[in-house]
Amino acid sequence: MFNFQYYTPTRIIFGKGTENQAGQLIKEHGGSSVLIHYGGQSALRSGLIDRIKASLDQAGIPHVELGGVVPNPHLSKVREGMALAKENGVDFILAVGGGSVIDSAKAIAYGLADPDHDVWELFQHTRTATACLPLATVLTIAAAGSEMSNSCVITNAETGEKRAYDDDISRPKFSIMNPELTMTLPDYQTESGCTDIMMHTMERYFTQGGNMEITDVIAEGLLRTVMKYAEILHSDPGNYEARAEIMWAGSLAHNGLTGCGNDGGDFATHMLEHEMGGMFDVTHGAGLAAVWPSWARYVMDNDMDRFVRYAVEVMGVERKAGMSDKEVALAGVSAMEDFYHRIGMPVNMKELGIAPTDQQIEEMADSCLRATGGGIGSAKRLTREDMIAIYKMARE
Ligand code: NZQ
Ligand code: ZN
Repeated sequence: MFNFQYYTPTRIIFGKGTENQAGQLIKEHGGSSVLIHYGGQSALRSGLIDRIKASLDQAGIPHVELGGVVPNPHLSKVREGMALAKENGVDFILAVGGGSVIDSAKAIAYGLADPDHDVWELFQHTRTATACLPLATVLTIAAAGSEMSNSCVITNAETGEKRAYDDDISRPKFSIMNPELTMTLPDYQTESGCTDIMMHTMERYFTQGGNMEITDVIAEGLLRTVMKYAEILHSDPGNYEARAEIMWAGSLAHNGLTGCGNDGGDFATHMLEHEMGGMFDVTHGAGLAAVWPSWARYVMDNDMDRFVRYAVEVMGVERKAGMSDKEVALAGVSAMEDFYHRIGMPVNMKELGIAPTDQQIEEMADSCLRATGGGIGSAKRLTREDMIAIYKMARE
């Protein structure tokens, strides 16, 4: 195993009705002027934003609000939020929504804390952040894990670049997680979320080394749990226990717990998907499902032990006498595809609804190389040619 640091400073407030504590919690964390940041319509329609505002009013905290964050959140909205916050002397940001809203809030927080530099430079990796305004979240979709992660993903719509910046200073001060808030989600978003949650753990599972038994067993348990409750939610979306299991799994999958002791993880599927998100604006989790089976079949020979273990321990593949490792591993990937189909997820680009040309595939590979500084992957380090081959497999 490798040495590691595990740092999860985010305070979690979990359960029914917890959003009503927002005002008091912000006060405890020193916020005195708040930007409430949210997405399109869902949080307005459900009355959540009104409840949050009432909670802040009750705590005597002045607030301004900015909605309109879109999935695959835009840099232009970040700039709008920075201007509004500056104008109003905001010192604390409350994100009410999912990964897109939280990431937009994180980027605003970086930008406000260092107004002399362009915030996009962080995402181009030409500098690192020195400060970040405090922020917190009220989570409305279990998926990205941004409510506990150090990660922030923003799309520059002008250039079509979707880029991540990771830094511990952006971890939320607290995250309010009421599983009931996720009950208004369309099924496709619920299941895309479950797919993303699993992928955050799978990215840390398929590595070339440093794995610890305790980490593996936590990861496998998390994956089996998400599969079980993802299927339950597909037919019974109002099931509170299932919503709660998935919501907590979403945070644990991406707060570092399932990567302790390994080499940092693979993350190639994520980086390949980010390019699809930047070019075609696809839903993140569904995009991951569309590319993972092709990635898995392409790289498995380089990491066979992990793929065999995954097939048996997570997908429940029964190893019959005479089966080769490769046959077991392939059966695991097929079982994963069956699971994706059972929850309404795609397993290739056609099912996702995109058909990139050869030239677009090359552009995505080039952009991915730039975003990753020349290559990505632990199970197998991917070259430009590898990326193109995987995209083509996922397209055919
Ligand atoms: O905008 P509204 O109307 O709220 O609709 C949203 C949006 O259309 C809807 N939604 C959210 N909560 C709802 C709801 N609809 C009904 N009821 C509710 N309670 O769901 C849609 C998707 O929301 P979004 O925030 O985009 O979802 P998600 O949490 O999957 O976030 C995706 C973004 O996070 C990034 C992704 O790349 C993508 O940009 N990621 C961020 C990570 C991080 N910061 O750690 C890690 C991830 O790997 C990921 O890359
Ligand atoms: Zn993800």
